[in-house]
Amino acid sequence: MKERHVVVFSGAGISAESGLNTFRGPGGLWEGEPVAAVATPDGWKRDPARVLRFYNERRKGVQAVQPNLAHKALRELEDIFKVTIITQNIDDLHERAGSSNIIHLHGEILKSRGCHDSQKLYPCLGDISMGDRAEDGTQLRPHVVWFGEAVPMMDAAVAAAKTADFLIVVGTSLEVYPAANLVDYVPFEIPKFIVDPMPSGLADETFHVIEAKATDGVPRVVAQLRAMMA
Ligand code: APR
Repeated sequence: MKERHVVVFSGAGISAESGLNTFRGPGGLWEGEPVAAVATPDGWKRDPARVLRFYNERRKGVQAVQPNLAHKALRELEDIFKVTIITQNIDDLHERAGSSNIIHLHGEILKSRGCHDSQKLYPCLGDISMGDRAEDGTQLRPHVVWFGEAVPMMDAAVAAAKTADFLIVVGTSLEVYPAANLVDYVPFEIPKFIVDPMPSGLADETFHVIEAKATDGVPRVVAQLRAMMA
């Protein structure tokens, strides 16, 4: 039988129990920093040093935490299924948990790039400072997709979603587009799960809703998928 394909669509909530803030909701990142100032091209033009400081702090945060049971449960899925992790997260926790097929829709905090060439990426484990330059001489910036910028990996994500046999949505408010459109591209009839303590209202009646934290709900969904294949 052809290998069944699980598509996972994750957001900040899957990393919350590792200790990384989500964006919306109590204590969210966007409560402390206005989005426009640190996550838009205008904010970068206005005060690039402020943007660099914001992402330098987030990079340090990512490097100080570990993947949690939810990331690890998704890695175990690869023992039985073809798995594509489509994440809105810029952390590397799915990678560090051992998942091998990951699409970052909104970029990666541990990579940087110049201001003109979005294809030429550089590893970035330390702070980016004003005056740090790419090979083309432009100022280095985080390899992160800001609001209003293109989402180059969306086509690859949509192609993967179209071949899903199962969908697991975990830890996303489904409030940001075009990423949130992803759930509309999976085949209508496949089993869809959403794991979230406060599931988005967009998860319609075709979803199995697991109202739980990721470290509780994701292992339960993985166990259910395993049982389906036993
Ligand atoms: N386990 C699972 N889900 C959780 C947990 C948890 N422990 N804690 C919070 N959540 C859920 C919240 O209920 C919410 O639905 O995670 C979701 C977080 O939503 P957002 O903060 O909006 O994060 P996300 O959906 O990833 O944001 C999308 O917005 O600002 C941009 O680029 C940024 O990629 C980000 C995008």
